Amino acid sequence: MEENPAIRRLSDWSETRLRGLADEYDTPLYVTDLDRVRENYARILDAFPDAEVLYAVKANAGRDVLSAVADAGAGAECASAGEVERAVAAGFDPEDVHYTAVNPPAEDLDYVVDLAEEEPALTITAGAADTVDRLAERGFDGRFCLRVHPGVGAGHHEDVATGADAKFGVPGDRAAAVVEQAQDYGMDVVGVHAHVGSGVSNDDLESHRRVVEYLAEVVSTLPVDLEFVDVGGGFGVPYHESEEPLDLDAVADNVRSALAGVDAQLVVEPGRYFVADAGVLLTEVNTVKADPAGETLIAGVDAGMTTLIRPALYDAYHPIANVAADAADRSVEPTSVVGPVCESADVLGENRDLPLVERGDLLAVGNAGAYGIEMANQYNSRPRPAAVALEAGDASLARRRETVADITDTEVWQA
Ligand code: LLP
Repeated sequence: MEENPAIRRLSDWSETRLRGLADEYDTPLYVTDLDRVRENYARILDAFPDAEVLYAVKANAGRDVLSAVADAGAGAECASAGEVERAVAAGFDPEDVHYTAVNPPAEDLDYVVDLAEEEPALTITAGAADTVDRLAERGFDGRFCLRVHPGVGAGHHEDVATGADAKFGVPGDRAAAVVEQAQDYGMDVVGVHAHVGSGVSNDDLESHRRVVEYLAEVVSTLPVDLEFVDVGGGFGVPYHESEEPLDLDAVADNVRSALAGVDAQLVVEPGRYFVADAGVLLTEVNTVKADPAGETLIAGVDAGMTTLIRPALYDAYHPIANVAADAADRSVEPTSVVGPVCESADVLGENRDLPLVERGDLLAVGNAGAYGIEMANQYNSRPRPAAVALEAGDASLARRRETVADITDTEVWQA
């Protein structure tokens, strides 16, 4: 077998193993293969041997994943104080941690500025003059990186094309002024940053390149020698069985040529690419019925938009397989897989060709490792699922299944 295959498809998972895990840990269950996470990191390093690689923690902040990634040697890009806290607790050295402030709540700034006092190698990235003022008010004079708004976005859905969303970053023509502002406050301006969006595919190579070229132009206007240029993350993975994997070498070539005139360390910060195909979601069929038109079957399962929100939120496609032991002997029927939440959007997959579903069948939802459990929520008072980590063939519980008590524990009752 190829050592680090470019894609791990849902069909590459051992169905026997998945059934064993569902028996042991119950469903819905997230399974993360930490060996695959490491392979994915190795694939990123192969394409970007000259870059500092940060893992975008937001894709999956489970302690199991963070520890594996930290041990493998990557740094961490964190979107909140909570992510910084979890990353450092899981073993990331603060000098390898970048906190990216996006309209940050006061508590986040309090936390990271305090941490930066103890750990001055921590880097804080901000994309608004206001945030620079607020950092200075807290006495921050550490490592500062400016987030630039490149005006070009790309990604699998318009809602994740951050590069063209003015909520993020400072336009290039204001970058020098904000850098000077940070310097006047005594901050050490070490880098610039831009992120084109999430889920960049081979069709987006041009937009990605333009963002990096834009960054290079901005760098040339700045009154400072930079330590690094962070070109963000966003590297897409194939979700459809027919999709080709992203040509990461082509992305890397583009980045290198766009930054040819810039004398600074390259930083990349992918999240999805580390974890997406390292995770599956297991869910059990509890209801089988025909849709009113009688054209498709409806398979009701115990996971839904509270477990994996991507299909409901972005119309995202995740491959689904019926991994019941005798599924191969059954007829294939058009089937929609729907969850237990009282919302019409609670669909995991529409009109899929699946071996005839029966109550009790185990279904596996592929590419669930990124923005899966991380975006799980408790709507409908539905406890969030458990997660299991696989490592060198061994399974261990990474996150226990929540109970209703976990949901109500934070409520305050006035008797
Ligand atoms: N860096 C920054 C500044 C980001 O905003 C993001 C993602 C990343 C890195 C990592 O992007 P990635 O390599 O994972 O594509 N929930 C959505 C994705 C939102 C991503 C937001 N920012 C989804 O499920 O598709």
